[in-house]
Parts: sequence; structure tokens; C-alpha cells
Amino acid sequence: MIDPHMTGGSAGFHGLPPDEWERRRWQIIRDAHAARDQLFRDFFGQILLPIRRVAEGAGATLRRWGRAYATWRTRRQAVAELAGLDDRALKDFGINRSEIESVVYGRHAEPVTEGKLAARLFHMPYDRGSTWVNPQSKRLVKESWRQVAPIADAAAEMFYQRLFEIDPSTRKLFHASRMAEQRRKVVQALTLAVEGLDNLDALLPAVRDLGRRHHAYGVNDRHYESVGVALLWTLQQGLGAAWTPEMASAWTEIYVLLSDAMRQAAREAAAHDTRAVAA
Ligand code: HEM
Repeated sequence: MIDPHMTGGSAGFHGLPPDEWERRRWQIIRDAHAARDQLFRDFFGQILLPIRRVAEGAGATLRRWGRAYATWRTRRQAVAELAGLDDRALKDFGINRSEIESVVYGRHAEPVTEGKLAARLFHMPYDRGSTWVNPQSKRLVKESWRQVAPIADAAAEMFYQRLFEIDPSTRKLFHASRMAEQRRKVVQALTLAVEGLDNLDALLPAVRDLGRRHHAYGVNDRHYESVGVALLWTLQQGLGAAWTPEMASAWTEIYVLLSDAMRQAAREAAAHDTRAVAA
């Protein structure tokens, strides 16, 4: 996962050219993010799995699970982990802290019925796996994008300049493009994506279509990394002192979500092309 030699500041990057440095820094952010998401999923997995088992067993109740599950150690661990969770994140799951605590502690001042809690947990976005977005990231991305909006065209210009600088192989992809129009389109697409984060089911098919079109433009996986690096750099420049590590992490999460969906669709399109040629 995270290479300790690379997280100890600039020493591990000694002698690397700046674009390679940024590429590795990007990779570390991505790994750290994946590790954090995994922790988060593991935690909810701990809650979900027993509930699923209970729900599958005839006549079993959440209360029974609560008693079996809430050993002293598990309780302490669960409460400590809960304390670290963002209230907005819980809200996104459609549950509140006191409901989970009441289950963990086995106290039900207001009865939390099996059906009520289990139904909400089963319908929570966690079930959609990788398409779940941390609500805090959503908020940060929306806030920061709003701040960039007034200078969006200048920012897009900086973005392409930076992209061509750190990855000259991207330049030829745009050889026939009218860049003013391209800047407008990319800003518009990012605005739609940011606005669409609350409705991923509607957003992702459009993002996958975009990915398929990018396959046709000749865009490859490495290009997506370069675009990620250039995008984060541009946002950092645009926001100046308002830019925070949390924003970097949030944008990384959202960019990884969007670019992964695009790349996945591109891979499928490539496989389709190969089959079509073979046939
Ligand atoms: C989240 C990532 C990206 C977004 C939101 C995005 C958005 C867009 C949009 C909206 C267009 C207009 C055409 C269309 O809708 O198909 C476009 C075109 C294009 N994009 Fe991207 N793009 C992304 C990533 C990339 C990457 C990684 C590259 C590679 C360097 C790239 C290269 C191009 C090229 C070559 C075109 C065609 C330009 C033209 O037709 O003149 N894009 N992109």
C-alpha cells in the first residue's frame, strides 16, 4: 500500500524530476484514500454482516444480534470508531449516532426495530460499493468548485498548459481542437459532475459514455493520471490559501471515482473493438 520510504517528505523523492515527483505524490494520496475507504467499509461491514446473517435466519431479531455482538471489547471499539465518524456521513447512510449506539449498547429507550434499522442499512449507499462517495468529500468538492467558478476559463487555460508541460504526450491528442471551446466543454462537464454527485445513478452512465468517447480520442490510463495531477495543481493554484489537504483528498476521491468509471468504460470499448476485429 503506502510506501513508507515515499511518505517521509522530500528525501524519498531525491533526484526525481518534478512531474515524476508529482505522479508519485498523487499515487500516495490515492493509496491513502483507498486505505481510508477500506477502513470505513470494514467498519460498516462489521455491522452489516451480522445483520445480514440475522435477517437470513428465520425469526432472528436485531436485538439478539445486539446482545451477541456487543461484547465489552467490540462495544469499546465500535464506539471509538463511531466517534471518529462524521455526522454527515452517518446521515448519508440514513441513520443517526444514537440509533447505532443504542444497538451497540443494547439499550432501546425508543425501540429500534429490526426492520427499521436493517431496512435502512440494507438500502444505504454502502451496498453500491465503489460508487459510494464520502459526503464530506462531496461537500468540500462542491464548495471549492463554487470558488473556482468565477475564474473557470482562466483556470482551464492553466490546466491545459500544466497538462502539456507535465505530459507532452497529451498535446498531440488536442492537435485539431479549438481550445477555447474545449475549455468551455471541460468546465461544463466538471460542473455537471460536481452537481451530479448527489445522484450518482444518473451521473455515472453519462460519465461512462464520456469514457467511451475518450477511448475513441486515443486517451490512455497514463493520460488520466496526468490529468488528475494537472487538475489538482490547477485547483490548488486557483484557490490559493483556501486550498486545504482535505480538499486535495476530496478532489482525489471524486476524480478517482469519475476517471475510474471512464477508464472502465474505455476498457470495455477496447475489448469490444478487439472482438469486432477478430470476428
Ligand atoms: C474526468 C476527466 C475528464 C473529463 C470530465 C473530460 C471532459 C471532456 C469533454 C466534456 C470533452 C468534450 C467532448 C465530449 O464530450 O466527448 C472532452 C474532449 C476531449 N478530452 Fe477530455 N475529459 C476528461 C479526461 C481527459 C483525459 C485524461 C484526456 C487525455 C489527455 C482527455 C482528452 C480529451 C480529448 C483529446 C478530447 C477531444 C477534443 C476535441 O474533440 O477537440 N480528456 N473531454
